[in-house]
Amino acid sequence: MKLQVGILGATGLTGAELMRLLLRHPQIEIVWLSSESQTGVPYDTVYPVFSGRLPEKIAKLISMEEAGKTTPDAVFSCLPHAASAEAIEPFLKNGKTKVIDLSADYRISDVAIYSTTYSHKHPHPERLKDAVFGLTEIHREQIAKTKLVANPGCYSTSILLPLLPLLKNGVIQKTGIIADSKSGVSGMGRKATEASHFMACNENFSAYKIGDQHRHLPEIREQLGIASNAAVNLLFTPHLVPMERGILSTIYVELVTGKTVADIEACWNKAYAGSPFVKIVKDFPKTAEVSRSNECRFKAYQPAEGNRVIIVSVLDNMVKGASGQALQNMNVMFGLDETLGLL
Ligand SMILES: NC(=O)c1ccc[n+]([C@@H]2O[C@H](COP(=O)([O-])OP(=O)(O)OC[C@H]3O[C@@H](n4cnc5c(N)ncnc54)[C@H](OP(=O)(O)O)[C@@H]3O)[C@@H](O)[C@H]2O)c1
Repeated sequence: MKLQVGILGATGLTGAELMRLLLRHPQIEIVWLSSESQTGVPYDTVYPVFSGRLPEKIAKLISMEEAGKTTPDAVFSCLPHAASAEAIEPFLKNGKTKVIDLSADYRISDVAIYSTTYSHKHPHPERLKDAVFGLTEIHREQIAKTKLVANPGCYSTSILLPLLPLLKNGVIQKTGIIADSKSGVSGMGRKATEASHFMACNENFSAYKIGDQHRHLPEIREQLGIASNAAVNLLFTPHLVPMERGILSTIYVELVTGKTVADIEACWNKAYAGSPFVKIVKDFPKTAEVSRSNECRFKAYQPAEGNRVIIVSVLDNMVKGASGQALQNMNVMFGLDETLGLL
């Protein structure tokens, strides 16, 4: 029996990326795709790339209301924050469906921090305690038991995967960490805005939400704090790069006295021994190496002078940073091979 799966917000970029992955998953049957603005429209009109590849049942987009009356085995929400928590509530209530939420609605456990960060009141704060932060390699055991996964932000995944084992095992200091990240334009979603249209992005490279202003920072700080059992001080500056997809994070850390870059590599190798999508590489990784794959690759370098180490981490924001990790989490939630549909 195949798992019945629905996608909320299937017309967005992460929805389309998820479709690309789900269509080649051997144990999934997609039962509906939802859209509010394009209800009734054939999905392959929105994304002609899927023409001739869609089962008749899901050819046309259905409304969120119609979707909410069904009880599939799993639902992926590719909606913006706030809209997402509202739309997934009927599925959480039905007692059967497992939900993977790609939005930020269930990533931050403190409702006050969530409200300040996203400038609105959380519609279902009572659910926050049930959600598991879906960084698969770190929270695999809890993900296997939950019905609600909060899929991490794309920047967060590129920063947390290299840092968490190092903080947990006391290899690096908890202070003075700087993450300097660059993202392709697909990180901004499908709708063109003043900041994301071609004339604004092409031949341009800009920093935004500098230092302590980006919305991913609270979820990053929360996860770093859990790993190190203390508050972790981190500055984070994202940049927009004129490319379609990909994130490269350059992260500056300070070693604990007596530790070296060899301890960093040993710590990573041990932490990620059973994790097929995390690769510790020999040469500094580039975004094109992981394009359309679910891998996160990283490498560390220790300059001759001082106690600092520089880590370079890359992933595809649409795959390991969103839809790929969401599918990886679904596989874990249903006890399937974590790599199904992702290799
Ligand atoms: N892009 C990335 O790299 C990335 C990475 C990680 C996480 N995420 C998160 O994943 C979610 C989806 O991102 P995306 O890039 O796919 O966004 P997107 O391209 O903007 O698509 C979101 C879709 O949601 C629907 N939607 C928009 N506003 C809505 C509202 N108020 N109520 C109901 N539906 C609404 C729209 O579909 P209809 O108009 O057809 O209904 C839209 O196609 C977001 O929460 C985002 O933060 C994105």
